[in-house]
Amino acid sequence: MSTTLAPGGIPLSLFRLRTEVVYGDGCATNIGEHVVAHGGERPLVISDPGIVEAGLLEPVTSSLAAAGLAYETYTDVEPDPRVAVVEAGLRQFQEQGCDSLIGVGGGSSMDTAKAIAIWSRNPGRLRDYEGLDQFGQPPVPLFCAPTTVGTASEVTQFLVVTDPEAQFKFTIAGRMVPPLAAFLDPQLVLGLPAPITAATGMDALTHAIESYLSLLATPLTEALALHAIRLIGANLRPAVANSRNHSAMANMLVASCLAGMAFNATRLGNVHAMSHPVGAFFHVPHGVANAIILPHVMEFNALAVPRKLIEVGQALGEPMARLGEMAAARRAVSGVQQLEADIGIPESLSDVGVQREAIAAMSVDAMKSGNIPINPRRTVQSDIEGLFERAL
Ligand SMILES: [Fe+2]
Repeated sequence: MSTTLAPGGIPLSLFRLRTEVVYGDGCATNIGEHVVAHGGERPLVISDPGIVEAGLLEPVTSSLAAAGLAYETYTDVEPDPRVAVVEAGLRQFQEQGCDSLIGVGGGSSMDTAKAIAIWSRNPGRLRDYEGLDQFGQPPVPLFCAPTTVGTASEVTQFLVVTDPEAQFKFTIAGRMVPPLAAFLDPQLVLGLPAPITAATGMDALTHAIESYLSLLATPLTEALALHAIRLIGANLRPAVANSRNHSAMANMLVASCLAGMAFNATRLGNVHAMSHPVGAFFHVPHGVANAIILPHVMEFNALAVPRKLIEVGQALGEPMARLGEMAAARRAVSGVQQLEADIGIPESLSDVGVQREAIAAMSVDAMKSGNIPINPRRTVQSDIEGLFERAL
């Protein structure tokens, strides 16, 4: 691996994980016990209509009832949740006298639950808490169970909410943001529609690659990220081909979580800086936007970190023998492009409705991201504009 820590030096917090990670078929039915152990009596379950329709909420809610908990549900979460969606959930939380939260779903449901957990203890506007550790009171107890294979919100210290007036996705981050426990239950992801497996799986791969290349990477985060890349390289194609494949889906669920643990410590890079404005302006699903932009940013970063890109390509299973350094680094890029073609990811941003006229404004917003300064190749606004042009 490329990054090593020098002996001695200034003491630093090398790694921190607030979340207990529980894994196994049916483990989401243990959430009730954890709520009780943390003093909760009246949890509010946050989810979306698709999860309810798929019958995924039922095992969770019946186990809450079995644990003697008088739970409530708020299932109106929408993709890329707006502040108003969080506010409606907060109102219900307060009116029904709830004391804890359970997020069951993809990133949108888990981020909505995280936002309510913070907002219920910290008054004012939600956006007042944008940035790192901007809220004073700790959130109410929160537990999460992911039903997709990508966002890793179940272990990260980040949440993203859309401010529709500003057409801006803002991030709230902090050491108290991650849930107290995450439940990786393969039963909740079996049968996931192929396009969602593909998009969220590519989000997970983007997390792992961006974390691995980040200027803040350490040997610990690299180990997590690299193994996530290996698992995704071996399992994403079969998972998209048949999401009833237990082994492939369970491995994707674990890979997503490993990538989340890695980027929780390192943050991300140019891909996420660019995909957030694409989502805010054109409502492109987060994983799809990342997937389209990822190969272009990898190519851009090849000049800075060719050895690390070679390691990414090897972890994905790309043959590298007898290639020079830059050619091998580019093989990692073409390997990602081939994977995306195989699983049906659209080729370009224009294929998903992005318009050239928005590039200037999206680039301004991308440059506001804290992920730009930690991208391995120094990046200025004209670089971002060029990357958008290439991805278009
Ligand atoms: Fe992401």
